[in-house]
Parts: sequence; structure tokens; C-alpha cells
Amino acid sequence: MSSIKVNPPGGSYEIKIEEGILSRAGQEIKKISGAGKLFVVTDENVYALYGETLRKTLAGAGFAVNFHVLKPGERSKSMRSLERLLSAMAKADVTRTDAVVALGGGVAGDIAGFASAVYMRGIACIQIPTTLLAQIDSSVGGKTGVDLPEGKNLAGAFHQPKAVLIDPSVLKTLGGREFRDGMAEMVKYACIADKSMFDALMEGDLQMEKLITDCCDIKRRIVEEDERDTGLRMVLNFGHTLGHALEASAKYGRTHGRSVAAGMAHITNSSERLGLTEKGTAAQLIRLLKKYSLPFKIPGGREQAIMEAIRKDKKQLSGKLNLVLLKQIGSCYIYPVGIQEMEKFL
Ligand code: GLY
Repeated sequence: MSSIKVNPPGGSYEIKIEEGILSRAGQEIKKISGAGKLFVVTDENVYALYGETLRKTLAGAGFAVNFHVLKPGERSKSMRSLERLLSAMAKADVTRTDAVVALGGGVAGDIAGFASAVYMRGIACIQIPTTLLAQIDSSVGGKTGVDLPEGKNLAGAFHQPKAVLIDPSVLKTLGGREFRDGMAEMVKYACIADKSMFDALMEGDLQMEKLITDCCDIKRRIVEEDERDTGLRMVLNFGHTLGHALEASAKYGRTHGRSVAAGMAHITNSSERLGLTEKGTAAQLIRLLKKYSLPFKIPGGREQAIMEAIRKDKKQLSGKLNLVLLKQIGSCYIYPVGIQEMEKFL
């Protein structure tokens, strides 16, 4: 079992990583929350797997429990879906002293987090992430939100969770594709901050509890220093400028992890070619991506659509984009580029 204390300005909380913690969530939440009612947000797939286990442990700890079950997939991360969720909370008489519990992947976590940020001007949210991607990234750090037709995550709020409970045993029920999606994000952490994690992944040494803990600890360091994403936190976007654009240009048809994998490889090939990254770095990265059956190329003929998506990207500040480039494996830096210069990286 491991535990990480996160201390950003927006509120401290603990991340607990432990096999089986999902089935003991009721007692864990009781230790940190005086809520009478817990409003659980999940999706149909996750509900079928873990809904009853969670209901039992929460009810067993004395909480009144409501479930709000979303359709699986990114489409549930919309303003309409948020409105339905907020109405359901109001109908269930959720009060300011109650709490939301997000059970699931990034979609459930982001929309539940956003609902808890705005419902009655903010109530507590406990994250119980069930995908690898959510366990090492989206459940930690307080970014919440929904997509708009104009782009991903365009409406949202920073709202730190009250606790994050991570049960690595639930990863056994993930499909191979979903697992690989999370591995792309793990490769990202290794690339930007941890050469020894990169080497362990290359050796295929997948001690999941340790790897999840190490990723969450990297994210802790970053969000403690830059909770609101105005500086250092941008390094978490390594591969994401191209990745998000690729995702958007495919109308969200390509998963986040696969898009980011291709984005990391492409940007590193380009930065190496431009003399901005140590030689040989892209080859090492591509070898690791291949090992986990992740894409390492952006599909040909998409440059126009990708540039269009980049122009719309919310990270474009006054015509500048902050690209994250590797110095070498395990170390990165922020490189601001104008939109014209961006074309050199495609
Ligand atoms: N997923 C990137 C961040 O939390 O900043």
C-alpha cells in the first residue's frame, strides 16, 4: 500500500494506492468525510463491474447512496450530460455537506469533478479511478470539465478532490486497448521526468502499484508547484498538442493515449531533427512505444486538419503555443513557438 499527500493551494488531499481499496471505500471515505449522502457518478460498463461492490461498502459505512449511470464514452462529457447530472443531484437532495464520488475513467472523473465544482458553488468530490489513464493522470490534480462542440475540455474548473482511492486490481478487467492507452501516459511521465521508469518499462518490469505511485508522485510535484497550469504543469502536455489535434481531427475517433503516443513520437522526431533534442532520443522512445503496441506515426495527409485543430487549441495564448520538448529521456523543457513555426514540427 502506498500513500501520497498532495498539497496544492486549492486544498490538500491524500492519494491511496492499494489492491482491494475499492471494496473498502466506505471506511476510507468515512475517515475523511462527514457527508451523509454520497452521489456516485459512473458509466454503464463500470457499474456492471463494480457498482454493487461500491454500493455495498458505502452503505455498510452508513452513507445514503445514489448512483447516476452515464452512457460509456466521450459523448457523455457534454454540457447536456452535465445538466442532467446536476438536475439528478438536485432531485436527490444532495446538499453542500454531501459528496460526489467519481467511479470510472476520465469521462466519469472529469464530469463528476466539474459537477462537484459547480453544484451549490462547490461540494466535495472523491475520485475512484478505474482505468490506468485515470489512475495516473486525470483523477489527480483537480482538472475537471466537459467538451464543447468546438473542442475538448473547453468548459471546466480547477477543483481538487477530497481524496483519490486507487485500486490497481481493477486494471485486470481493462481491455488491452484501454490498458495500452494508459501505458502511453506512463511512457509520457517516464520521458519527461524519470529515466529509471523508462528503463523499467523497456525491460517490461510492470510492477503496477509502484509504477502508479511513481507517476502520481511526479504529478503531485508538478501540481503543487503549478496548480492552475500557467507554467510547469504544461510539461504534462508532452505529446498532447499534436495528440489533441489528432484526436480532434479524427472527431474523437482515435483514443487519447494512442493520439498522445503518436504526438510524442512525432514531436520528438521533429525536435531532434531541429537540433532541440539529444540525438537518439526519438529512436529510444519509438522502441518503447512499439513494445507496448502504441502508434508512433501521425497518419499522412492529416497536416491541414491538424494545423486547423491546433489553431483552435485552447493552449494557444496570443498566437503562441507552448510545446513540450525532451532534452533527452527523463528530462524536458517548454519551448514557446508561434503558429507559423509550429508548421516546422509537423
Ligand atoms: N492531464 C494534464 C494535467 O492534469 O495537467
